[in-house]
Amino acid sequence: NTKIPTIHKDAYRTFRDNQENAMIRIYQGESPIAQDNTLLGEFVLNGIPPAPAGKECVDVTMEIDAMGVLNVKAMVKSTRGQQSLKVGEKRTGRMSQGTKQKLLLENQLVQIRNPFLLPTSKLDDQKFEFIFMLDVSGSMGGQPIELAKRTLLLFLHSLPENCYFNVITFRGNFTSFFPASVRYTQQNLEYAKIKVQELYGSGGTTLLAPLRYVYSQPQIEGYLTQIFTITDGHVSNRDEVLALVASQVKHSRSFSLGIGNGVDRNLVIGIAENAGGMYEFVTYNEMFETKILNQLKTALRPALLKPIRVQLQLQEGMNLIFEKYKQQNDMNLETEPAIGIDLGTTYSCVAIYAKGKVHIIPNGIGKNTTPSYVAFTKDGKENIGEPAKNRAYENPEDTIFDAKRIIGRRFNDINLQNDMKLWPFTVVDDFGVPKILAGGKKLHPEEISAKLLRELKKDAERYLQRDVKKAVITVPAYFTDGQRQATKDAGLMAGLEVLTVQTEPTAAAIAYKLQHSEGKDRNVLIFDLGGGTFDVAVLKMSKGKIEVLAVDGDTHLGGEDFDKNMMEYCAQEFKKKHKVDLFEGKDSANKQTKDEARRRLKRLQGECERKKIELATSIAAVVTVDRMHGRTDLSVSVTREMFNKLNENLFKKTIEVVDKALVAAKLQKSKIDDIVLVGGSTRIPKVQEMLGAHFGGKALDHYINPDEAVAYGAAMTAAYMNGTIAKNSMDFNKVQDVTPMSIGVEVYGGGFSVIIPKSTKVPVKLMERYKTAHNNQTSVQITIYQGEDKIAVHNQHLGDFYLNGIPPRAAELENIDVEMVINSQGILHVSAVSSSTGHKSVSIIENKFRMGSGAIQRFLDEVN
Ligand SMILES: Nc1ncnc2c1ncn2[C@@H]1O[C@H](COP(=O)(O)OP(=O)(O)OP(=O)(O)O)[C@@H](O)[C@H]1O
Ligand SMILES: [Mg+2]
Repeated sequence: NTKIPTIHKDAYRTFRDNQENAMIRIYQGESPIAQDNTLLGEFVLNGIPPAPAGKECVDVTMEIDAMGVLNVKAMVKSTRGQQSLKVGEKRTGRMSQGTKQKLLLENQLVQIRNPFLLPTSKLDDQKFEFIFMLDVSGSMGGQPIELAKRTLLLFLHSLPENCYFNVITFRGNFTSFFPASVRYTQQNLEYAKIKVQELYGSGGTTLLAPLRYVYSQPQIEGYLTQIFTITDGHVSNRDEVLALVASQVKHSRSFSLGIGNGVDRNLVIGIAENAGGMYEFVTYNEMFETKILNQLKTALRPALLKPIRVQLQLQEGMNLIFEKYKQQNDMNLETEPAIGIDLGTTYSCVAIYAKGKVHIIPNGIGKNTTPSYVAFTKDGKENIGEPAKNRAYENPEDTIFDAKRIIGRRFNDINLQNDMKLWPFTVVDDFGVPKILAGGKKLHPEEISAKLLRELKKDAERYLQRDVKKAVITVPAYFTDGQRQATKDAGLMAGLEVLTVQTEPTAAAIAYKLQHSEGKDRNVLIFDLGGGTFDVAVLKMSKGKIEVLAVDGDTHLGGEDFDKNMMEYCAQEFKKKHKVDLFEGKDSANKQTKDEARRRLKRLQGECERKKIELATSIAAVVTVDRMHGRTDLSVSVTREMFNKLNENLFKKTIEVVDKALVAAKLQKSKIDDIVLVGGSTRIPKVQEMLGAHFGGKALDHYINPDEAVAYGAAMTAAYMNGTIAKNSMDFNKVQDVTPMSIGVEVYGGGFSVIIPKSTKVPVKLMERYKTAHNNQTSVQITIYQGEDKIAVHNQHLGDFYLNGIPPRAAELENIDVEMVINSQGILHVSAVSSSTGHKSVSIIENKFRMGSGAIQRFLDEVN
């Protein structure tokens, strides 16, 4: 948020003795760890005169001119020798990776006074005491002690301002640099650096006595103590050391760093695990800086202590609000139209409730569903839907589909990586966010979805002969919070006010309920297998109410996967016969080869989908593509049996998901009254057969149209929320949804503490009470995950934020209440409150992988 043009200068020092040059790496972003940000460029500053570490100064100046161009200049102060880089130029581009690593390792700069690590804007009020315990026994002689010294220097240089610190070295006995921890001043730092240089290794190793000494020191009031132990070997009395560390957990957190191969791994791991910290192992010739900075990063972000159970269920209260909101809508009968949109992976459908019934709105060519395709033509036009799909093979690299398989995911998502191998268009990594190259631009998947939604909106406007602004858009039940948010953003960009994002099986259930209302209570299973996603929902339908008991699913399983298996089979057969690999060349650097290969694959995919559909009604089909490769035609016969075999594992998976949903709903199979099929892929005979057999030969419900049910239900919801339908005119007035996955926070030790369990009814507001883990902990990092694994990081990361301003007190004396609210749209808000001060920190999960409001606005400006 600095105004431009601007010019800023900062002073740095050399990190090593006789350092001749410095690697200047320029990053952009907000992470305290340089590498977590975006690398803008780098260059080497040569010609630093040989001098002891820290003696030579380098000024780094950054200037952004009025045009926004960044110019970085580094100058050796004593010689005034300088070097600069206009960002965008890649100065060290030709250097080998090895040379670069070496340069980085040896030629760092250390910032003067102003520590570069502390995320000052966030953890402004946490105060720390750092104690470093350094092994200087005989085994440390030579290489290890040199590495240990460098490590310690890096640690010392990275400490935050206003901390206290001390260094204690241990061998048979121990010594302390300062009699007690001292303030982190330039003078004390210089003194410590001199002391570090003097260290050498000799003698035995006892850690117990120095640790006892450290723990016996009075804690500095208001400061959180963090102890770092650096060792390369074994210590006597290991078990006692570990027991001692564990007993002191409230007084301090303990981190450990093991050097080399001879180290006692159990000691290093034990020290950290017994006291809430983390451990790392480093070897002599690796880039150890990241590991050390990671330890410090963790040390600077104290965690929450495991929860004690005080759960407040305020759901009823939320429901009342929800009801009231709906009533208000009912009163407003002068309504604008509100449509329901099923935004599918492969086909989309739009509907509206008007004049007492739901109308499925046909598209420009009279069809009820529209292919989810957007094509950018060579002459700068955009084709959407049917024309885009039909002509995909002409222009495959600029014909985009499957945006729903990309939206809300990260670039390194394993499913995305697999999909990319077959897509004829290119997806690139834009700092972790996947973007699509199309029409000469880099587009967010949200932008593709927005173009589709805009087209559906236009179809509705033509049908209704008036403007349409409001809509309900559906998403798979098993979409994560990020995927829902991104879909909502797409709606916004299509110029729509998104009344709610509704889950697809719930919408289908509404359609079912409205078409079959005998008034009896029924347990219904919705089986929705579409083009790209699979959802299962178990619902209870009773008079006036639809209640979702559980949902489960797979956001990456559907008709396209069956097409893909068929394509691979055909390619295999083709290769056997003609010795040509149809996939070859799809990633070629030669544009012509690449385009040809992709065009070929797209033609094959289209044909495979057609024959797959044919196999639903006949027992054999022949996949034929003229001039598949050069002059060679493809002709592969596929029987229904063969098709079933190719997809056997995927079909089985759908049944497993059904069972999981039943378990979550606490219902036995026999308790299901109706099984409702939704989604085009439920027309596959084998899928129906397996599902029926699984329920003991039960008949499946075919009454609702599998392609239109979702849009139908969404239209009803839209009418209901919009007030087009008066509340009492419907034969139900309440739809109760549930969360697809558990949501919680990471706690001390890396565990996952669930706050909103899987299958909780929404809207919901739940709170969990935590405690501070350590004495004098004044801030805490709240990290939010979604999933079912006990280890927090194994789940999907939704976002994080900090709570500052906790009064410094003894460990566990402060309560921290973390509250999570999921509104009726399934969108999550999290807040944390320190109980004694009422200090509050709120986060609507806005992670950096979402499109920013600026980007959304730019899109809107462009289309309008
Ligand atoms: N008779 C059929 N046999 C097999 N598959 C079919 C048949 N008819 C349609 N399909 C497949 O169904 C899929 C489209 O279904 P649908 O329109 O329900 O999905 P979607 O809404 O695009 O996707 P999703 O709901 O997963 O986002 C396509 O993969 C299509 O090939
Ligand atoms: Mg669908």
